[in-house]
Amino acid sequence: MRSFNTVLVTGGAGFIGCNFIRYALGRESFKGRVVNLDALSYAGNLESLQDVEAGFGGKRYFFERADIRDLQAVCSVFDRYQPQAVVHFAAESHVDRSILGPRTFIETNIIGTFNLLEAARAAWKDQEGKLFHHVSTDEVYGSLGGHGRFTESSPYDPHSPYSASKASSDHLVMACGNTYGLPVTLSNCSNNYGPYQFPEKLIPLMVLNMLEGKPLPVYGDGRNIRDWLYVQDHAAAIWSILESGILLEKYNIGGENEWENIALVRELCRKVAVRTGKPAQYYEKLITYVQDRPGHDRRYALDCSKIKKELGWTQAVKLPEGLDLTVDWYLRNPTWCNRVKSGDYREWMQANYGSRS
Ligand code: NAD
Ligand code: TYD
Repeated sequence: MRSFNTVLVTGGAGFIGCNFIRYALGRESFKGRVVNLDALSYAGNLESLQDVEAGFGGKRYFFERADIRDLQAVCSVFDRYQPQAVVHFAAESHVDRSILGPRTFIETNIIGTFNLLEAARAAWKDQEGKLFHHVSTDEVYGSLGGHGRFTESSPYDPHSPYSASKASSDHLVMACGNTYGLPVTLSNCSNNYGPYQFPEKLIPLMVLNMLEGKPLPVYGDGRNIRDWLYVQDHAAAIWSILESGILLEKYNIGGENEWENIALVRELCRKVAVRTGKPAQYYEKLITYVQDRPGHDRRYALDCSKIKKELGWTQAVKLPEGLDLTVDWYLRNPTWCNRVKSGDYREWMQANYGSRS
């Protein structure tokens, strides 16, 4: 089993990254330190790590503001901290934004990943005990019909600028492993949900719009299907790959929890209603079908039997429980919600979606 003294986490101020850092530092078996490299884009928020900073700051947790598009800045973080492992989350992550402005997705997700690979290659002369883990998405496989699930050997068929940029970064990671012997692993995960998710993604957007009595914009006929995974289960899966994943292998991480969007939104209406004392119909009336996302993938589903069989990982949180935890978290954290909503999100939604926001 591998262990590391210093783990460099990129994008640690984002949704999955902050949950991963909290998970890693909370593990009894991990005694090392975490360096969080993040540019603090609109999606990065250090308030998501206040408890981590208070508990571990300067001792086992360090933050470095740096942009992965800047090779020198990335190399300098490698120089200063000498990490043995990289867990690479930093990315532009929202499909709708990638449709409206793809360039930054190409720059951060492709060039940024390439820079990190170059920095790791330069820093890790001795590759023994090192690992570069790249965090990717099920969206690289494209869209499914009513049946079947993607396996690790399904061909890539990305449809959005976001998924195309992630597919490209996946190929670069594997190419560096194959060509230069860089110790790499890769995971493709389904839709995550949980605390600290930026409210442009479906679940937090719906919950916060409900609380404000605003329309709940459902794209197209609402029958697109996503497979949902509680974010802490994703963190645990990545940890199992860090410890025991086979170099040059890729692992699907799925929730095995498929929901049509409209059914999920209705479920959220019921969950919020229980907590606010309003009838669920009050929230259901806010559901507004809006113009579909261009190229909207119909269904994602992952076969994740490989990571279950080989690394012993499994999902610990079922969707009803995970949704309860998530809705409660958003209700209990109005300060965090107001802070992120008052910034770029509000302006961006108004500029791009007007009445949908
Ligand atoms: P997020 O948008 O919440 O966070 C991204 C983080 O990356 C932010 O902290 C941001 O400041 C940082 N960042 C952006 N550009 C940067 C740059 N140029 N340099 C340094 N930092 C930069 O994203 P997320 O939902 O936490 O996703 C994290 C990773 O997981 C991404 O690679 C994404 O593709 C992947 N993923 C996400 C999901 C999901 O459901 N959210 C599912 C599968 C895979
Ligand atoms: P999203 O959270 O953006 O994740 P992704 O596009 O990466 O799957 O969207 C999840 C699903 O919800 C997707 O099918 C698009 C749909 N959706 C809506 O119907 N309305 C919305 O306002 C948003 C943000 C998403």
